[in-house]
Amino acid sequence: MKKTVPLIVGNWKLNPVTLSDASDLAKAIARKQKSISEPYVAVAPPFPYLAEVGKKIAKSSVQLASQDVYFKNIGAYTGEVSVLQLKDLEVEYVIIGHSERRAMGESNEDVRQKVLTVLKHRLVPIVCVGERERDDQGNFFTFIEDQIRNLAEVLSVAEMKKVVLAYEPIWAIGTGNTATAEDVKEMQIFIVSVLTRIYDRPTAKSVRLLYGGSVTPQNATELHKEGDMNGFLVGGSSLKAEDFSDIVKAVVQS
Ligand code: PGA
Repeated sequence: MKKTVPLIVGNWKLNPVTLSDASDLAKAIARKQKSISEPYVAVAPPFPYLAEVGKKIAKSSVQLASQDVYFKNIGAYTGEVSVLQLKDLEVEYVIIGHSERRAMGESNEDVRQKVLTVLKHRLVPIVCVGERERDDQGNFFTFIEDQIRNLAEVLSVAEMKKVVLAYEPIWAIGTGNTATAEDVKEMQIFIVSVLTRIYDRPTAKSVRLLYGGSVTPQNATELHKEGDMNGFLVGGSSLKAEDFSDIVKAVVQS
């Protein structure tokens, strides 16, 4: 995966509620993406739809992502989904530590274990970081730094280079209250500097950074051009094929 090629991931969350709607959405997205091999585009449907969505996107350039994973591979873990099962369905990316999961109790330790499991099986972890709110003293920067340091403690240089970091400020998720391109750019510089201090400059520069939080076809151009991240993690706007494809187009053209 070349970092110079942007990555746009659609996180469907707990939508839609029927297999047939999921299948239609996947088909519509695949149709629009058929001829475009760049940027990289992936969709993360709920677990029960992964197999069907995988079939519908198979002939397109759209790749499959999952919204979570468990860190044990097999055994007595009721309700969990393993990386081996994801791999068998040709899932390529795994979202880990989304703020909606952290709000349900997922800890930094869970995130670390999941990332290690995913890397071990050669899938790409998309690790979400983001502050609940911003304060005038800039304490939110320390919060982001702590989230990154906590992960970095268990990752070698080679492992870190394979991680995708998604900066998703919680206040911007699903609120329509997008971060400004300036906020995004500032955070991009900050994350690169944190990674440089922990590792080194080449490592920091090779980690792919995504922005997520109320990305729409209307704000995607400015956020991409001026925010200087390497793609987007899109929630609400990934549920309409037209909007999702307009975001992809905005990235291609900016
Ligand atoms: P949103 O969600 O685009 O609906 O704000 C983004 C996300 O949670 O990944």
